[in-house]
Amino acid sequence: MSLIIRHRGKPGFLPAWLAAWLSLAGAAATAWARDPAAGRRIYREGVLASGEPVRATLQGDVEIRGRTASCATCHRPSGFGSNEGSSIVPAITGPLLFADRLPRRADLFRGLFQDPLPSPARTAVRTPRTRAAYDQKSLAVALRDGVDPDGRRLDRLMPRYAFGERDMNHLTAYLKTLGAAPDPGVDDTTIHFATVVSEGVDLEKRRAMLATIEAFLRRRNLEVDRDVRRPSASPYYKDEFRIARRRWDLHTWELAGPSATWEAQLEARYRERPVFALLGGLVAGSWAPVHCYCERLSIPCLFPLTDLPEVVEEDRPSSTVYFTRGLQGEAEALALWVSRAHPEGRLGPIVQVFRDTEEGRTLARAFRRAMPEARAARLQDVPAYAEVPSEEFWRRAVHDRKPSLLVLWLGPADLDAYSKTHSAAEDRLALYASSSLLGRTTMAIPERLRGRLGLTYPTTLPGSEEPHLFRVRSWFRAQGIADEHEVVRLNTYLTLSLTEHALERMVDHFSRDYFLECVEHELESMENPGVFPRLSLGPGQRYASKGCYIAAPARDRPGDLEAISSWIVP
Ligand code: HEC
Repeated sequence: MSLIIRHRGKPGFLPAWLAAWLSLAGAAATAWARDPAAGRRIYREGVLASGEPVRATLQGDVEIRGRTASCATCHRPSGFGSNEGSSIVPAITGPLLFADRLPRRADLFRGLFQDPLPSPARTAVRTPRTRAAYDQKSLAVALRDGVDPDGRRLDRLMPRYAFGERDMNHLTAYLKTLGAAPDPGVDDTTIHFATVVSEGVDLEKRRAMLATIEAFLRRRNLEVDRDVRRPSASPYYKDEFRIARRRWDLHTWELAGPSATWEAQLEARYRERPVFALLGGLVAGSWAPVHCYCERLSIPCLFPLTDLPEVVEEDRPSSTVYFTRGLQGEAEALALWVSRAHPEGRLGPIVQVFRDTEEGRTLARAFRRAMPEARAARLQDVPAYAEVPSEEFWRRAVHDRKPSLLVLWLGPADLDAYSKTHSAAEDRLALYASSSLLGRTTMAIPERLRGRLGLTYPTTLPGSEEPHLFRVRSWFRAQGIADEHEVVRLNTYLTLSLTEHALERMVDHFSRDYFLECVEHELESMENPGVFPRLSLGPGQRYASKGCYIAAPARDRPGDLEAISSWIVP
């Protein structure tokens, strides 16, 4: 087992003397209290009611504590467990734990026919066990001694815990609520989703996204209607999944006005029509306000189309899943490339020119942070404010500083303006820009800079398409959706197909946490239409494509780009 054994428990929220006093004073009153919120902390974070870390023994002699020992580490935040790798971790949601276990074919289907499992795990799935319901007493026995209500010894992969009565009360109370009711946004016939669109976005992109959603839903809902009409005695295996069948309803949530007011607008839309999850989405500027809203309500949000995601620590998984770390990821990849391709000795001053916008500031900040300290000290920041920077600006910003490396975090018009002042004397200057700011086409590269400009390029390079792309393209043609903004359409299509796969895996367990876990699981095995070379989400990961190329106009294929770096993962 490759578990991290030493894990520092989170410190308590209260000073130790105060916590001790409170627990003494409250001991008599709280001994029998059942607080699901305290149980949730044990389950998710590995923190006891006292603020002490949970401790347990694994495999008979290995001590684990804190988050590593939390139930969520193995049984996952949803409680639905997992059957990855060689071990099967069973579901321990309330309705399953505190009732007799009777295997259900729809729940076993994936493990039996679709997941690649090694043979011991396969055998376990094929021979599902029944057992009697747990109650708090038998649960305590299972956790302490590893014996289930039927007297069966639990595998040694299940740690042994010695919880006191108070923590046992809290944990039981929480487990009873876990997975006990569907999360909001689902009723007997329909599952509701929303997509967020703000003012000020590119109208063509918006149209491409919404047309894809509409066509996908039309196809899916027709299928659902057909299945529901099918006679129930059919031997058709989909009958097992009838319980899960729901139509999809996707609401477009339009945001107006300054982004500081978005959270309140989202709140109002949600109150009007609660949704299970947000899919895709397109806003002007940073995604952060929508991210924060989803975080607060634990609403899953899948693959918003943004270059400005909220970048969070991987050990605190958020409710939002992104394709990439956006512009921040590009700047970090460039910093790594620069330190490989331009060794220290020969490198003079480094200058980065950027617009004083969210995009520009994000790139400049991330590039600086990702540099080794000695280099960052020589990096000069030059923000551009004027609508059209003058020749004088370029002279002072670039030419007078005599950089040996120049990063132009700029759009096509600015790059063009710069190129007019670029002189042959600067031919040894290493030049870089972001393909995302340039609209990812070579057309935006001024003639005079071709052959010397490197671009951060976070998507698949033109010419390396996957076969699945051609199938998806023909689907789009059949829907009569115009050829523009293919990246937007393909990314939206992938989001919707992934949602469909994840929901099938969930059967009728409509838990948002489980949805995110199924998304993590399904992404890897799903066909990728190929905007990004590789997509995967390990447990808790929130950025599916982790790297970036540095590309340049191809020498022998005018109009094309080629990679000058390997796939860089910062
Ligand atoms: C290191 C991984 C791991 C952790 C952490 C873990 N479990 Fe388990 N648990 C397992 C495995 C594996 C099994 C399956 C054992 C078997 O069936 O033989 C299991 C089985 C169980 C069962 C028996 C289920 C049944 O249907 O009989 C219960 C109950 C349970 N775990 C509760 C918990 C609780 C509560 C926590 C947290 C306090 C927890 N587990 C933490 C791995 C883990």
